[in-house]
Amino acid sequence: MSQRHRAPYDDVLQMVGWTPLVRLNRVTDGARTPVYGKCEFMNPGGSVKDRIGLAMIEAAEAEGTLKPGGTVVEGTSGNTGLALAMAAAIKGYRCIFTMPDKMSSEKVKLLRAFGAEVIITPTAVPPDHPENYVMKAKAIAKATPGAVLANQFYNPANPAAHEASTGPELWEQSQGRITHFFAGAGTGGTITGTGRYLKSRNPDVKVCGVDPEGSMIGPFFNTGEEVEGHPYKVEGLGNDKIPGTLDLDIVDEYVTVSDGDSFRMARRLTREEGLFVGGSAGLIVEAAVRKARELDDPEAFVVAVLCDWGEHYLTKVFDDDWMRENGFLTRARRRTVTDLLEARSPHAPALLTAEPSTPVQMALSTMTSHGVSQLPVVRDGACVGAVRESGLMRAVLEDPGLLERPVESVMEGPYPVVGSGTDAEEVTRLLRTNAAVLVGDAGSLRGIVTRYDAVGALTRSRG
Ligand SMILES: Cc1ncc(COP(=O)(O)O)c(C=O)c1O
Repeated sequence: MSQRHRAPYDDVLQMVGWTPLVRLNRVTDGARTPVYGKCEFMNPGGSVKDRIGLAMIEAAEAEGTLKPGGTVVEGTSGNTGLALAMAAAIKGYRCIFTMPDKMSSEKVKLLRAFGAEVIITPTAVPPDHPENYVMKAKAIAKATPGAVLANQFYNPANPAAHEASTGPELWEQSQGRITHFFAGAGTGGTITGTGRYLKSRNPDVKVCGVDPEGSMIGPFFNTGEEVEGHPYKVEGLGNDKIPGTLDLDIVDEYVTVSDGDSFRMARRLTREEGLFVGGSAGLIVEAAVRKARELDDPEAFVVAVLCDWGEHYLTKVFDDDWMRENGFLTRARRRTVTDLLEARSPHAPALLTAEPSTPVQMALSTMTSHGVSQLPVVRDGACVGAVRESGLMRAVLEDPGLLERPVESVMEGPYPVVGSGTDAEEVTRLLRTNAAVLVGDAGSLRGIVTRYDAVGALTRSRG
């Protein structure tokens, strides 16, 4: 039972940190390498940024730049703003935040709920453009008396907060067994501070950076070149330049993940692990799971940061229409009988049939030698009846003379025939009253789906 929350806290800020580490069991799709999620969404403000909100305000107070009644200004993707607003609410500071218009409306409403002033700026402007959200925040801080810019992208209090908290927590929670730490970089504070601490305890810990496709950080790490990025939809991670708080010397490798894979993994984490998280967590876990499969090592200990709470993205990642409109979710293709045919075991024989004149004995040995339990009876390409092993066996035991007689003398009714585009659900419905369904187009039969095949496909689809 966690020791946390046993004693009362003086205020919400004391509840920041010591977030749980939870094993991921299903999204790893059977990988033997254990993968854990660091639940930063369980911080009171709902994100990893809670750790730096208070730290940056206390650093400004210590420097004497933030005085009672002062104003905190920052350019934020939302989460840092919330963390600052939470600390400012306790300490009585005013907050002004600038935010790119790509961020979800939930995040804007959330900041305003904490009493902050929020100014929306265009996303698609160059980093040095006066309308860029960081440039705009700088200008507002300069023009506002008693204001300080939190300046998270260059503030040493940012990575220091993670070196003092996230790193030590992970070391203790993993009992020093952590081998791989996966995080993305917005400011780089999380990956730099946590990585620094973990490497100070064990230099062999691999610090793995994950970048959204379109950001320049990953390509820069891998090629040394400053590539021209392109807009992407994952929020909070990636950048169009290397921030001051990102120390790439701490990082061992950097991979890139697409918006689509990130959002699909965030939905899987929610639906399969019950962890309701945002797209940046999906992005990081996607990379961690790929690494886990590659390592295939039960002794490894992989940790991925689950940066923030999924509620911020209900109108996006968790909205099927939005996902489809953006091409991240293809309408689940209707499964057809062809899928059922293709899902049959590769050892299953193709379509075996008998002719009306086929002797019962031969039909039985055909079924036995191919391991099937029924045969459609076909005349001129059309199914005119069917025989089943169990039925034939029973009849032969009653009348052994049947072995020499043609199957048409004992056959049951024909199996239904459906076209190859028929809905799999329709076939499952037919199999409730028929032992098998034949697949045929243009008068030629080309396959058979039995109850055995359908149940097999059903169990496989349920995992
Ligand atoms: C949702 C989300 N994920 C990840 C991060 C990245 O954290 P850091 O700035 O420490 O690199 C942020 C930062 O804003 C974020 O909002």
